[in-house]
Amino acid sequence: MTQRIAVIPGDGIGIEVIDAARIVLDALAARHGLDLAFQEFDWSCARYAQSGTMMPADGIDTLREFDAVLLGAVGWPGVPDHVSLWGLLVPIRRAFHQFVNHRPARTFAGVPSPLTGVGPGDIDILVVRENTEGEYSQVGGRFNHGLPEETAVQEAVFTRRGISRVADYAFEAARSRSGRLVSATKSNGIVHTMPFWDEVVASRAAEFPQVEWRSEHIDALAAKVVLAPRSLDVILASNLFGDVLSDLTAAATGSIGLAASANLNPSGEYPSMFEPVHGSAPDIAGRGIANPVGALWSVVLMLEQLGHPEAASDLMRAIERSLADASTRTGDVGGNADTAEVTEFILSTIGAGE
Ligand code: NAI
Ligand code: MG
Repeated sequence: MTQRIAVIPGDGIGIEVIDAARIVLDALAARHGLDLAFQEFDWSCARYAQSGTMMPADGIDTLREFDAVLLGAVGWPGVPDHVSLWGLLVPIRRAFHQFVNHRPARTFAGVPSPLTGVGPGDIDILVVRENTEGEYSQVGGRFNHGLPEETAVQEAVFTRRGISRVADYAFEAARSRSGRLVSATKSNGIVHTMPFWDEVVASRAAEFPQVEWRSEHIDALAAKVVLAPRSLDVILASNLFGDVLSDLTAAATGSIGLAASANLNPSGEYPSMFEPVHGSAPDIAGRGIANPVGALWSVVLMLEQLGHPEAASDLMRAIERSLADASTRTGDVGGNADTAEVTEFILSTIGAGE
């Protein structure tokens, strides 16, 4: 049966890395006999500049019919970041109950970590970020505009259902990995939502006796990513904490250009969305030098979720080989290849086996 994939390149380097992903997907489909159909959407800040909206009013309904969404990045100078984020990404994540943001980070052979003494295989962390509630809420307001008394209030929204379901996913992931999990908290400073988070996580942990887990304050945990990354495996975190931590784990492995993510609707009732963690990088856009690995690794996650493990591991092996040599990796990870050269190498490596 044909699997339909909606492709939203977005803005800046989003377009460049999704170009690479599409070429690689075509090759993988041919090689592994996958029946994939792609439809591209120009939803972006460029569209906003022309029509005043990031996506059409029936955008969510259009996407609902697809098996997966592949996204580059959205955001561009001239359009406020909260407009681009809340006009496209956040509505998709929420309408499709993509309550898990699955963000792996690994150190690869060939890619230097900025951390002293950290080498290949030393970091293998999965950040499981809550993706539909928490600190990223529209509840609140601003008043007394322009006055000395000007005030802004921003409420965080946590629900038992929302915490439970993402905790279950993270404990399940920990069980299938090393059996270790750390839950990020800040219950000493944030006195309502974080103790609630801790209680609900503890109640879900009781269902996973095989997993050894503890809570850690986010500030100490951030330091640990830098000082003792080998001690960490699965990190369960709220929307904000997971957002920040996953940039940190990515940076610790060499570059944010490597980092992949899956916005998952684990029940499969709605499409899941796959996207590199990085943004549209206006500072390097249009130069053909963006690292395509974050997008390609996101394709690996998509292929796994669509039920194509062989194609997924074929691509992952090709990514690992490209990173191993400076002539086939980009400048952000110490190489001297451009986006097209990396893509070309990966194409030639797909199907090459061990
Ligand atoms: P960014 O991730 O776009 O860039 C941060 C730094 O990392 C820049 O120096 C950039 O050149 C570098 N970088 C990022 N990806 C790279 C890659 N693949 N290869 C090589 N270098 C790479 O984050 P920034 O600058 O905070 O945001 C730029 C725009 O992207 C903003 O409008 C922001 O809102 C948007 N954004 C969108 C996201 C999304 O669509 N999911 C996520 C993060 C940011
Ligand atoms: Mg982020």
